[in-house]
Amino acid sequence: MSEARNLSIDGGRLWASIMEMAKIGATVKGGCNRLALTDLDREARDLFAGWCRDASCTIRIDQMGNIFARRAGLDDTLAPVVTGSHLDTQPTGGKFDGVYGVLAGLELIRSLNDLGYQTKRSIEVVVWTNEEGCRFPPSMVASGVFAGKFSLAEAYAVTDPDGVTLGDALARIGYAGDEAVGRHPIHAYFEAHIEQGPILEAEGKTIGVVTGAQGMRWYEVTLTGAESHAGTTPMERRKDALLGAARLIALVNGIALAGAPDARLTVGMIEAFPNSRNVIPGQTFCTIDTRHPVDATLTALDADLRDGIGAIAADMGLELEIEEILYSPPVTFDADCVAAVADAAAATGHASMQIVSGAGHDACNIAAVAPAAMIFIPCVDGISHNEIEHASQADCAAGCEVLLHAVLAKAGEAGNDAC
Ligand code: GLV
Ligand code: MN
Ligand code: MN
Repeated sequence: MSEARNLSIDGGRLWASIMEMAKIGATVKGGCNRLALTDLDREARDLFAGWCRDASCTIRIDQMGNIFARRAGLDDTLAPVVTGSHLDTQPTGGKFDGVYGVLAGLELIRSLNDLGYQTKRSIEVVVWTNEEGCRFPPSMVASGVFAGKFSLAEAYAVTDPDGVTLGDALARIGYAGDEAVGRHPIHAYFEAHIEQGPILEAEGKTIGVVTGAQGMRWYEVTLTGAESHAGTTPMERRKDALLGAARLIALVNGIALAGAPDARLTVGMIEAFPNSRNVIPGQTFCTIDTRHPVDATLTALDADLRDGIGAIAADMGLELEIEEILYSPPVTFDADCVAAVADAAAATGHASMQIVSGAGHDACNIAAVAPAAMIFIPCVDGISHNEIEHASQADCAAGCEVLLHAVLAKAGEAGNDAC
C-alpha cells in the first residue's frame, strides 16, 4: 500500500468553507443567486483567492478570468494535475453546484499542507468563468475558449439581457487576467461535482465514477407575427406569436417523450413582446435545451425540431429564426483517469458505480485537450438548479477523499516516478 493510501481530508473544514461561500448571494430559501461576473461573483472569487493564498498557493488568471491556484510540486517544470469547477450559480441555484468541486480541490491542498505531503507534479485548483451560461449564454464558455471551441473575441462579445458584454463585465469585476487562454498545460483534470440527478441516491452509492457525459444542443428561437388589438382583431385574422410559442413548447415536449427515456428537451426561457395584456403578442423569443447521450440521435432530434417548428410557423403565418448557440457532443472521459477515480473509491472504501453525466460540465470541454474524468456524489432527491439543492457533509467528504487519491495517483508521490 502506498503512503498516499493513508491520507485523508478534513470534512468539517470543507463543509464550513461551502457554507461560508454560500453566504455570498444567499437567497431566502437557502440557495444562492450568484450570476457570472456580477459583484457577488467577484466576492466569491476574492474569498476563494484569499483562501488559496493563505494555503501558500500562487494564483494565475487568464484572459477569460479562469483562476488557477497552484501548489508547487517537487518538479515545477512538469504539467500540473488540475482540479476544480465553477463558482457562478443559476438565479435560483443551490450551494453545491460547482462550488463543491472548487472547494473540494482547495480542501485537498489544505490537507496536503497540513500533512507536509509533497507531490512530484504541481496541483492546481481552477475556477472556470461562467459555467452556467444563464447570464452569458452559452454555458461552459470559458472552458470552451480554453479548449479552442470558441475564440476569445466570440466569448467577449456575448451579451447579457441588458446588453452588457462578457468582456466588459469581466473587466469591471477586475478578473480579466493576462495569461493567454489555453496556454496552460494540464497533465490530468479531475472535477468533483454533485450528481444533479437521482441515480446514486436510488442505487445507494456514495461515489459516481463518471465515464462520460451526454451531448447537448442549445437553440434560440424567435417567432414573429403581428401585434394588434386584443378586442378588435377577429380570431381568424391573428398572427399570435405567443400561441406559436405555446405550440412549439408542446412540440418540444412531444419530441422528448417520443425519445424516452434518454431524450431530454426543455424550453427554459420565454419572452413575449410587447407583453401587454390587451395586445396580441407580435413576437416571442424562447430557448430550447436538447440533450441525448448518442450523437446521431441528437442530430435526429435537431431535424425533428427544425421540421416541427417550421411546420408550426408556416401553418400560423409566422416568421421564424432558429439559431443554434451551443453544440457539445457526447464525451467519453479518459480511461486512465476514470480508472484512477474507480481505484480511489475502492482504496477509500466508498461504494461506487459508473455513471454518465446528464449535465454539462467544464470537464467535457477540457476532455478535448487533456485526459479528464469526474467524480460525482449524491444530492438529495436528485434535485439541482434549485435553492433546496443539498448534499450531505459525509458525502461531500467522501467525494473529496476520492478526489485526493485520484489526484495523487496522477501527481505522483514524492520521490515516486510512477506517473
Ligand atoms: C449545466 O449546468 C448544464 O446545463 O448542464
Ligand atoms: Mn455545475
Ligand atoms: Mn449548474
